[in-house]
Amino acid sequence: MMSAMELRADFTRREVVRPDDEAWRPSPMAGVERRMLDRIGDEVARATSIVRYAPDARFSAHRHDGGEELLVLSGSFHDANGSYGEGTYVRNPIGTSHAPWAGPEGTVLLVKLHQFAADDTERVVVDTRAAAWHPGLVPGLSVLPLHEHGSEHVALVRWAPSTRFTPHRHWGGEEILVLDGVFEDEHGAYPKGSWLRSPHLSSHAPFTGPAGALIYVKTGHLAAA
Ligand SMILES: [Fe+2]
Ligand SMILES: [Fe+2]
Repeated sequence: MMSAMELRADFTRREVVRPDDEAWRPSPMAGVERRMLDRIGDEVARATSIVRYAPDARFSAHRHDGGEELLVLSGSFHDANGSYGEGTYVRNPIGTSHAPWAGPEGTVLLVKLHQFAADDTERVVVDTRAAAWHPGLVPGLSVLPLHEHGSEHVALVRWAPSTRFTPHRHWGGEEILVLDGVFEDEHGAYPKGSWLRSPHLSSHAPFTGPAGALIYVKTGHLAAA
């Protein structure tokens, strides 16, 4: 019996991956590479990755047996259902399928595979560049909610320079990708491209310095099974 690949697969541990910590690795498709963040399984995996498509690269037709969540970090991404420019957030529920491709400038995506609850059937497409942001819980924060299902919440949060959030505990954990600027807490500083996964019941007091930050945040999805 072959054992499946496991990378940062203990969800009770705090994990931080900075941009240079994980190399680009080839995928089974020519012109498509990825930096793996967490993974349980081989080519059909519960996986969180940064995926990079060369200009006009294509991925073969595939079905999302556990759902697919993605955020276009740069360039543009396309499938038969539409075109997704930089800053577009997409959820393809369980059972959907497509054969996507990158635009002429290539694309870089955050992709989370096989992480949908069985009853989370909503297809979501949000152009975060055009959507309305709301004031956050403290001055300097603004929030763009992207999705909610059960205890899971997904949002983009913009931090003005020198913003301080109240110390808090993560019920169901917290996962962050720093999209711009530098996000900080008492454990360290996380520049653009850093990924953090903080377990159920972890806590911290985050803040920003002069650069401010833009982050993707998912909470409530890492409750102890
Ligand atoms: Fe897909
Ligand atoms: Fe937090």
